[in-house]
Amino acid sequence: MSSTLTDPSVYPISADTVRELSRPLFGHVIDGEVVPSADGATMPVVDPATERQVAVAAAGSAADAERAARSARAAFDDGRWRFLAPLERERRLRRLSSLLAERADVFTELDVIDSGLLRWYESFIVQFAVDGIDYYAGWPTKLEGTIPSVPSDLVVYQHREPIGVIGLITPWNGPTSVLAFVAAVLAAGNSVVLKPAEQTPMSAVLMAELALEAGIPPGVFNVLQGPGESAGAALVTSPYVDAVSFTGSVATGSAIQAAAAARVKRVGLELGGKSALIVFPDADLEAAAAAAMMGVWGASGQVCTAGSRVLVHRDVREELVSRIVEGSRDLRIGSGFDPGSQLGPLVSAQQLERVRRYVGYGLEDGAELVLGGDRHGDVGYFHQPTVFTSVRNDMRIAQEEIFGPVMSVLEFGSEEEAYTIANDTDYGLAAGVWTNDLGRAHRAGRALRAGTVWVNTYQMVYPTVAYGGVKLSGHGRNLGAASLDDLTQVKSVWMKVG
Ligand code: NAI
Ligand code: MG
Repeated sequence: MSSTLTDPSVYPISADTVRELSRPLFGHVIDGEVVPSADGATMPVVDPATERQVAVAAAGSAADAERAARSARAAFDDGRWRFLAPLERERRLRRLSSLLAERADVFTELDVIDSGLLRWYESFIVQFAVDGIDYYAGWPTKLEGTIPSVPSDLVVYQHREPIGVIGLITPWNGPTSVLAFVAAVLAAGNSVVLKPAEQTPMSAVLMAELALEAGIPPGVFNVLQGPGESAGAALVTSPYVDAVSFTGSVATGSAIQAAAAARVKRVGLELGGKSALIVFPDADLEAAAAAAMMGVWGASGQVCTAGSRVLVHRDVREELVSRIVEGSRDLRIGSGFDPGSQLGPLVSAQQLERVRRYVGYGLEDGAELVLGGDRHGDVGYFHQPTVFTSVRNDMRIAQEEIFGPVMSVLEFGSEEEAYTIANDTDYGLAAGVWTNDLGRAHRAGRALRAGTVWVNTYQMVYPTVAYGGVKLSGHGRNLGAASLDDLTQVKSVWMKVG
């Protein structure tokens, strides 16, 4: 494998992206300025396809978290954003979406270099952000209050106020998608400190610059770079931050919820899953096999809703597994920039190590390896698409989120048994069902304990539709009108009139 996979002379990237890469530092964005860490600390930005350092980012500490949070606090308190007329906030958010659409290539290319995702997949992620901003741009004029019934000597109105400063802590998969969530935070009138994953710091800087260009005032949208344990943790406990919205692992989410309790902060958590994709014997097996493959090879399995447990009825197990194995055997593994690539690298050496460890657990626990099982090549964090069959639901590869291209195939007999196995997990983010029986489709929608159930489709998202988990997959909702409940609070104003 070439070590120049992301070399612009091998896979041309736009001149604008080359220019962005030549920035001396992907810094924090505080009060409208791109700045280094207070102590000057930096961290490398690594291309996971080549293992080469491509840029340098600021590595923030508690002092930087304090500066960023203070900036967001001041912007909220003086009302420079929340007291702008609602139509004006809408116009500026729409400008943000147009600017992102215009610069889609730069965002896509920077994210491909940063995260390793395939270019077409990352283009979809950037479009998702454009759609999300467009959706939220319509909300400022539509956040209405209510007038409750009260005794006639009183008038009471209740309106929805922003919460204040939101700390938004995000993972590495699909970095620019985060701009949709930033738009939600801003649509509700809040200000924000975004702490992107340390693996993918680049596009966040451009996001904040784009917001400034769109007319969102300095200080309303700040970026804090750096490791979770220092910068992220300090953001969570900062007295200037009112609420935290986090996407990532259960361990970190749980630590954040505990830390936020000291100041009784509202916390929204999206913590991934071990989603079941259930294939009934009456299903369209070709479509189900394609969805199962996309469900776990997409983004090399680094997706919260990865369909990493495939539950198949015993009568069609052989056919489904053979379709999956045949369809995956010759996947082309390579750089996200190679238009022929079908599977990109994992984000980091650490993530590759994690996937390899879980393949080991699968073998140790007695599952049958029918495809892949090893690293691919020796440069870049690539892993083969890997399929285990004869998986029991108590095995580690059936219970724990791997976040890599590893599919566990489990078998069931009855419909009841399918739901029992699907629900027998600590997670509850999503589930997929493949059937042509209408009654069964509705029964599944009711029986499965998950925030999202897809029938005869998988991993669909649309900005109008709420997204989030139950059980250890977290609480709170991103997207849809429901997300705005999490980002606002009701204030009651009483007047004595008689
Ligand atoms: P993580 O959950 O530790 O990191 C996610 C974000 O949280 C990053 O921005 C990180 O800097 C920040 N963070 C970490 N510790 C923090 C703390 N104490 N306080 C505040 N912020 C903190 O995930 P990590 O370590 O990158 O990946 C480990 C595993 O977590 C993955 O292998 C995967 O299984 C899971 N994961 C799941 C995701 C999902 O969307 N479902 C996303 C990322 C990771
Ligand atoms: Mg971590």
